Amino acid sequence: MDKAGIPVVTIDGPSGSGKGTISRALAERLGWHFLDSGALYRAVGLAASWADIDLNDDDALARCAAETSVQFVDRKGDDPLVFVNGVESSSDLRTELAGATASAIAAVPAVRAALVDKQRSFRQAPGLVADGRDMGTVIFPEAVIKVFLTASADERAERRYKQLKQKGFEVTLSTLLREILARDARDAERPVAPLKPASDAILIDTTGIGIDEVVDRVLAQVLANPY
Ligand code: DC
Repeated sequence: MDKAGIPVVTIDGPSGSGKGTISRALAERLGWHFLDSGALYRAVGLAASWADIDLNDDDALARCAAETSVQFVDRKGDDPLVFVNGVESSSDLRTELAGATASAIAAVPAVRAALVDKQRSFRQAPGLVADGRDMGTVIFPEAVIKVFLTASADERAERRYKQLKQKGFEVTLSTLLREILARDARDAERPVAPLKPASDAILIDTTGIGIDEVVDRVLAQVLANPY
């Protein structure tokens, strides 16, 4: 089958909107592949810090994006392990610092360009659920279903707080809220591929809604669609 025949569902939205959990659950229910595009940006940020690359050096960052290898190893009932240049980096990638660095390097157009083909290579039969900021607008504009998730900043901060605490990170709610607002502004205001819903995206506000209900709603849309 050529790539054009392989269906894609895109799930975009800001940090803490529930994208990751919802996309992963949806991919599992459909038996499709899953792309966590944020992990690619986080991995490039991490590799750049290992190589002591100046975050203002766009050319070096773009080279780093082209050269960094990222491998996902699935685990039953748990988040996948992520290897960056062969080094198991799953928990280093989840920190707020890794998120902020990813957001900074993601504003560099050459970094984004270097990751386009890598992201599209995840489109494999029988289908792909792609999670990110520009999946529906730039990477997979032809996706069969595009979803844009939102939630209030307070609720997103609270979700991140619970997630990070569960993983053993020391964080405070007020710091997380501040970081989330700063990251939202940077991701939404950058000139290239800013965080915004595709014109044909379904908008879902997940404030006060459980993950399962959102997954059911998106799943119903996918199953109703003749792809
Ligand atoms: O989804 P995440 O929190 O893991 O993403 C981390 C950062 O990476 C996010 O703040 C912006 C950037 N990113 C992006 O610019 N485009 C994407 N498709 C995914 C993430």
